Amino acid sequence: MTTAVPAEAARRARQLREEIERHNYAYYVLDAPTIPDAEWDALFRELQELEARYPALASADSPTQRIGGPPRADLREVRHAVPMLSLNNALSEAEAIAFDQRVRDALAKANLGDGAVEYACELKFDGLAINLRYEHGLLVEAATRGDGTVGEDVTPNVRTIHSVPLKLRAARPPVVLEARGEVLMFRRDLERLNERQRARGEKEFANPRNAAAGALRQLDPKITAQRRLHFFAYGFGELHGADEPDTHWAALDWLASLGLPVNEERAVVRGVEGLLGFYREALRKRPKLPYDIDGVVYKVNAYALQRALGYVSRAPRFAIAHKFPAQEATTQVLDIEVQVGRTGALTPVARLAPVQVGGVTVTNATLHNEDEIRRKDVRIGDTVIVRRAGDVIPEVVAAVPERRPAHTRLFHMPAQCPVCGSAVERPADEAIARCTGGLFCPAQRKQALRHFAGRRALDIEGLGEKLIDQLVDAGLVRTPADLFRLDLETLANLERMGEKSAANLLAALDKARETTLERFVYALGIRHVGESTARDLARHFGSLDALLAADEEALLEAPDVGPVVAASIARFCAEPHNREVIAQLRAAGVRWREGAPAKRAAAGPLAGKTFVLTGTLPTWNRDEAKERIEAAGGKVAGSVSKKTDYVVAGTEAGSKLEKAQALGVNVIDEDGLRRLLGE
Ligand code: IVH
Repeated sequence: MTTAVPAEAARRARQLREEIERHNYAYYVLDAPTIPDAEWDALFRELQELEARYPALASADSPTQRIGGPPRADLREVRHAVPMLSLNNALSEAEAIAFDQRVRDALAKANLGDGAVEYACELKFDGLAINLRYEHGLLVEAATRGDGTVGEDVTPNVRTIHSVPLKLRAARPPVVLEARGEVLMFRRDLERLNERQRARGEKEFANPRNAAAGALRQLDPKITAQRRLHFFAYGFGELHGADEPDTHWAALDWLASLGLPVNEERAVVRGVEGLLGFYREALRKRPKLPYDIDGVVYKVNAYALQRALGYVSRAPRFAIAHKFPAQEATTQVLDIEVQVGRTGALTPVARLAPVQVGGVTVTNATLHNEDEIRRKDVRIGDTVIVRRAGDVIPEVVAAVPERRPAHTRLFHMPAQCPVCGSAVERPADEAIARCTGGLFCPAQRKQALRHFAGRRALDIEGLGEKLIDQLVDAGLVRTPADLFRLDLETLANLERMGEKSAANLLAALDKARETTLERFVYALGIRHVGESTARDLARHFGSLDALLAADEEALLEAPDVGPVVAASIARFCAEPHNREVIAQLRAAGVRWREGAPAKRAAAGPLAGKTFVLTGTLPTWNRDEAKERIEAAGGKVAGSVSKKTDYVVAGTEAGSKLEKAQALGVNVIDEDGLRRLLGE
């Protein structure tokens, strides 16, 4: 007699099947997952449980009866000689303990012992399963797992994986050996791949497993080769012409001896304490591994015991995957706000409906920058996948467009800094937007003060990082100008500061008031203005007022100043908050000797000509060449533009030379320069 199926259960089962099939299609066929694995697992489990309770629901077309995706039509199908099964999961320590209990009970019942069981423990690699068929020691076929019975032939692709031996290292190899294991992509290779994808304007991969699956199922093995996959063996399928080892541990050693890569992070343990110890150790090591793992796998070590335990449906009773807490979860974006970092970089941050990720409640996740938001098409109100890996800041991995509500809002980078109201700049060729109020913005205060007081800037002795933190945190100093308004009493009252150190600091500030224009310009902390540019600017303009009055075109006239630097200076000087702080600094008595603007040798042979130097010249170093050009009335710029008259190229000249050629700018070598100089 079959249990009657309530209508509600039948409806739910149908709904689950449809949903799982949809996710499977996106995952297996399109390589574009729509939900985190943990959620898929939950749906799948719910369906499994429903079908277990009401067996009449378990139709042949249920995803629980299939496991995996259909092979793609364009890769040849391969029927596995020995089916490739899957593992049941333990999602908590309690479930791992229950697994061990089941194993012991079954062994005791079969009179095969009642003590602690010996297990082989391995990592659970987050890649995809593969079967490598070796005949007489030669790799003849590689196939994906597919649905466990029929997979796809990916032999040419697998041959590109360096860690897969094409020939086994054995004088008398087995007639047939099917090595089984996982193909995966190391995280750094995924980063490289995604950089290339970005550069080409193509879709990035959300995680190494999708990237590995995409790479392995390419029709063109050349593409697979570029993507650098790895392989770890963890078992075998068909075996002929060799003695089967007695234990899984011995099997792994044997596979390794044949030249197959077997992961080193493995152990033989006894009893459940051993299992949990291995689990905790793997969890600890996880962030340091160069590849992703999503748990550990426990296998009864002795093959005789494995055979006695056998299988339930498509999974062994003798093994289990003990999964780590999920690092991904879905939640809703309540808002997108902007955070200002200490260098002025504006980072969009998603405010999220609180969600548990890997055991921690996450309410914020970084969206990196505006381009990332556009590329991932994340909108306020969207459901998104968030990931928290190791110690890194949680990030939004992807939006789930199929769960997009009717009314979402697009994010726009603000034109004004949300912290100080200064203008926001975003140079055309940079991804990062920045606040231009470097001297004024509270978010940048400590960093700006550190730079200002630094040895190569105003060199305020005794004003180190700790003291700056103290002064800012106490609300005594907001801008560099405030430093010069500090008095003895205020300073002496600070914690860990006596009269004597307070007096020393005041003396140091007094000394720092007397400075040079180049130090002062450098101290302002203008982006792209290092010491040498500050020196050039000071010499070229002679006075601060002349520098502040210069527009971009006038700035480009200064030696070594190209369009990027000129734009950055112009934006800094245009920000009223910055000008205000500069005025306050002058009012506080910060002074320097000003001179006349540097005279150009107006009549020299190179008057009015702009040069760009690149590569190594045979006899002159960069400074020598620059000095000679400037002495002859020419100007040396940092980057090539249409206004460049000559590019002087030495050996190993790079992108500047390419740009010159592209723009049709004259390219000369050192001899050519000497001729222009009349030498
Ligand atoms: S043993 C009979 N060992 O997990 C079970 N699998 O659901 C054979 N996996 O498809 C698998 N690391 O892709 C085994 N050390 C490991 C593994 C591992 C990852 C994957 C494999 C398999 C899935 C099991």
